[in-house]
Amino acid sequence: TNTKKATNERLFAICKLLENQIVYYNWVGFYFRNGDKEELILGPYVGEPTEHTIIPFGKGICGQVAVSNKNFVVPDVSAQDNYIACSITVKAEIVIPIFVNGKNIGQIDIDSNTPDPFSEKDEHFLEFVCNEVSKIL
Ligand code: SME
Repeated sequence: TNTKKATNERLFAICKLLENQIVYYNWVGFYFRNGDKEELILGPYVGEPTEHTIIPFGKGICGQVAVSNKNFVVPDVSAQDNYIACSITVKAEIVIPIFVNGKNIGQIDIDSNTPDPFSEKDEHFLEFVCNEVSKIL
């Protein structure tokens, strides 16, 4: 059955795969909407532990994607004023929303220690990943 534990194990495996196989993916994690609350909760992730396990809608890159329902590619995090820093080594970030029945229920968040590493190829690839993930939730 699709227990929460089994789902989280699969999501963690996806994080590990992405972080291991793509050199410029240095922190890979999932955030999910907390029920009907306007906040995100950190799910499975790989990389440095973060204090930002709860992110209010609108706050940071992740919180903005929770509201906009759109991909957010940040080539240079230092140029963003609405940004939540998790680690000083991070140079760039990409966040792609996950939709279930047309509803934005969470996102994949990837940090890179390489400046400006993300292209449209990453967006398309991660949209594919998010679409696959939406089927197992
Ligand atoms: N940088 C994110 C916060 C999450 S950490 O990257 C893990 C943001 O600005 O929303």
